[in-house]
Amino acid sequence: MGDMMCPLTATAWSTTTPRISLLSYVLLGVASSTMSTEQEADDEWAAVERRGAHLVMAAAERPFVIHGFNTYWLMSFAADEATRPRVTAAIAEAAGAGLNVCRTWAFNDGGYRALQTAPFCYDEEVFRALDFVVSEARRHKMRLILALCNNWEDYGGKTQYVSWGKEAGVDLTSDDDFFSDPTLKSYYKAFVEAVVTRINTITNVAYKDDPTILAWELINEPRCSSDPSGDMLQAWIEEMASYVKSIDPLHLVEIGVEGYYGPSTPELLLVNPDDYSGHVGTDFIRNHQALGIDLASVHIYSDTWLPDSIEENHLQFVNTWMQQHIDDAANLLGMPIVIGEFGLSVKDGKFDSEFRETFMQTVYNNFLSPWERGMIGGGCLLWQLFPEGAEHMDDGYAVIFANSPSTFNLLSNHSRKLES
Ligand SMILES: *[C@@H]1O[C@H](CO)[C@@H](O)[C@H](O)[C@H]1NC(C)=O
Repeated sequence: MGDMMCPLTATAWSTTTPRISLLSYVLLGVASSTMSTEQEADDEWAAVERRGAHLVMAAAERPFVIHGFNTYWLMSFAADEATRPRVTAAIAEAAGAGLNVCRTWAFNDGGYRALQTAPFCYDEEVFRALDFVVSEARRHKMRLILALCNNWEDYGGKTQYVSWGKEAGVDLTSDDDFFSDPTLKSYYKAFVEAVVTRINTITNVAYKDDPTILAWELINEPRCSSDPSGDMLQAWIEEMASYVKSIDPLHLVEIGVEGYYGPSTPELLLVNPDDYSGHVGTDFIRNHQALGIDLASVHIYSDTWLPDSIEENHLQFVNTWMQQHIDDAANLLGMPIVIGEFGLSVKDGKFDSEFRETFMQTVYNNFLSPWERGMIGGGCLLWQLFPEGAEHMDDGYAVIFANSPSTFNLLSNHSRKLES
């Protein structure tokens, strides 16, 4: 399978001389005078580990709590010199509000600025763009959750894998074949291995050894509606979580599910936003019992999940949804919870930005109270935060600090509460 011709990656780049990074010069050259500060910086940048339902910076023996955001396009913007400064701005502005984790796409399958141009073929220029994202994050003390694939068509995802399989002559009928077909699974595993074992050309640190990366996410919002029993997705999660751990035992792994309860817990189906979501092939409890999964992933989109726009109902849903998942993560699964996406669109006029802040505060409060009691670790990641100059990418969910000073205060206030 791996002998497929791959003109760009196999030949052109293997002969280039690795550049010696700035960091290497510092370490090699002026060692004695800078060693103590380098050492201190390293201690502070200790790897984040899981202890039961909590996260800790192991070397420093200090708790770590996520105050996070999403900006999915960082790698794509870094691939272009004209847009690259927006990457630095996105990370720097978030750090300025006290945010400490960014979730972003480490995949782009086929299409414009693809990282994976074809099965087993990876674009070195785009990989260097991802190197830039990781190194800028490190510079701003920002941890990363890197997602490795998409359930949806954006940036390739399942659909692109199925297209590649068909082009290679594999008999495939549905996008959900992504989860079961051996050829497609071999494409995915090869891609994951390429990313996880990547040696950053700017820092010279292998991704799998870099504490900047907090966690790998197997796939954004997986659903496998063709198998409502959940068996097919479950087998895929078990296989891929073990695979990631086999090449990177250090980093945390999460799935990326939206968090719907499924057939294994019929009594909890009524917590779901509707009847349909319990039959999309996912299963919050069972999925997270797979060996190798460290963090429970949940999303919150009451704005699109609930049929009405009665604000009180939305806040009530957030309370119930979060309290149930936090209780399950802490007591049943024994792992931290990561609200990987929560957000509210103001695009269609159903809600305004004032209600968005009420919604955000409700999410934070639901995490703060059990966290303060020592019941749960993890944290919440806003969908989504953009720097100035990226307004054209806004899908209705983007918070831009320059236009939303009170949202900036809300985020800063939450970070102060997490520090105290
Ligand atoms: C942030 O905290 C300050 C001080 O406690 C408070 O006055 C302000 O209303 C808070 N702002 C937001 C948006 O939560």
